[in-house]
Amino acid sequence: MSLKITTNLVEESKISSFDPDNIVFGRVFTDHMFSCDFVNGEWTNFRIDPFGKIPLSPTLSALHYGQAIFEGMKAYKNEDGVITLFRPLENLKRLNRSAVRMCMPELPADIFMEGMKKLITIDKDWIPSTSGSSLYIRPFMFATDDYLGVKPSEHYSFMIYACPVNAYYSHPLKVRIEETYTRASKGGVGAAKCAGNYAASMYPTKLAQQEGYDQVLWTDGDEHQYLEETGTSNVFVICGDTIYTPELSDSLLAGITRDSIIKLLRAQGKNVIEQRISIKDLISWHESKQLTEMFVSGTAATVTNIELFGYKDKNYTVNHTDNLLSKTILEDFNNIKTLKTSDSFDWISVVNESEFITN
Ligand SMILES: Cc1ncc(COP(=O)(O)O)c(C=O)c1O
Repeated sequence: MSLKITTNLVEESKISSFDPDNIVFGRVFTDHMFSCDFVNGEWTNFRIDPFGKIPLSPTLSALHYGQAIFEGMKAYKNEDGVITLFRPLENLKRLNRSAVRMCMPELPADIFMEGMKKLITIDKDWIPSTSGSSLYIRPFMFATDDYLGVKPSEHYSFMIYACPVNAYYSHPLKVRIEETYTRASKGGVGAAKCAGNYAASMYPTKLAQQEGYDQVLWTDGDEHQYLEETGTSNVFVICGDTIYTPELSDSLLAGITRDSIIKLLRAQGKNVIEQRISIKDLISWHESKQLTEMFVSGTAATVTNIELFGYKDKNYTVNHTDNLLSKTILEDFNNIKTLKTSDSFDWISVVNESEFITN
């Protein structure tokens, strides 16, 4: 480890109040957090402190002009106590793509990896090892200038906190295909993991949830004719022997789970096509009973089946097969992440605790 991280540990861990058998997603946080600051054009002040509130000025530019980006990833602990991360450098690459789009500074790999691995090592007892559970890790960056005026901030903070989680969805999803509101449009910021994208999706999602759906399935901003993604995940559609997923563009998030599914399935000899998927085709595949399965993919969402989609006041139940591919993919991923099967794609980064032990 080369980064000098000042470490201020809690006097007493909160872990005794954590029940790994009753995890509620996103409500319980580990004992510590990692932080650093961007000042005078460089990243500095690397530290691990007790998890807690941070002082903010009412003028903080992220609060007003929205320069705020984040990532979502997970650490896993296997039966032998080995801690792994899944393709963490892909999250860093995406964080830095988001940073460029939002006119924020990029973050060097050593800060990202060493800050995260040290935090995980210190809080390793919080990583649940029951099936389907993990430690969710939230790296994020936000503008910290105290200045009233629209311009890129000169100061930023980058932080990481973590929370033990189960899968975000505990049941198959009902999604509503959106034809009024737009999540992202060409030339916009849909491919960036920026806070505003999530704010923009909340009202339409609330409306869909009031109608009994779990999520909105977004469509393109020009015509509302082509599938894009849900508010938290990418989407896959199986028609006959072919697995389709919307092609990447600047209006959808390039999911790391999506990319991993494509690579895994192609390595198994399956036909995966990345292309625009029209609602017209989706409904026609449904009518001809060729539509055998739909599922979403994401770090939090994992790989979750879609049981039904709604479009123009009509609900379409997806014709399930007994052998859901989404279930098999989830098992394959879990086996890779816990080192039960060999990591032939070189996706796993093991957290070598001895490098990060704090005295
Ligand atoms: C809007 C959106 N799309 C897709 C994804 C899936 O991305 P990943 O698989 O990298 O978690 C996420 C989750 O981060 C998301 O928020």
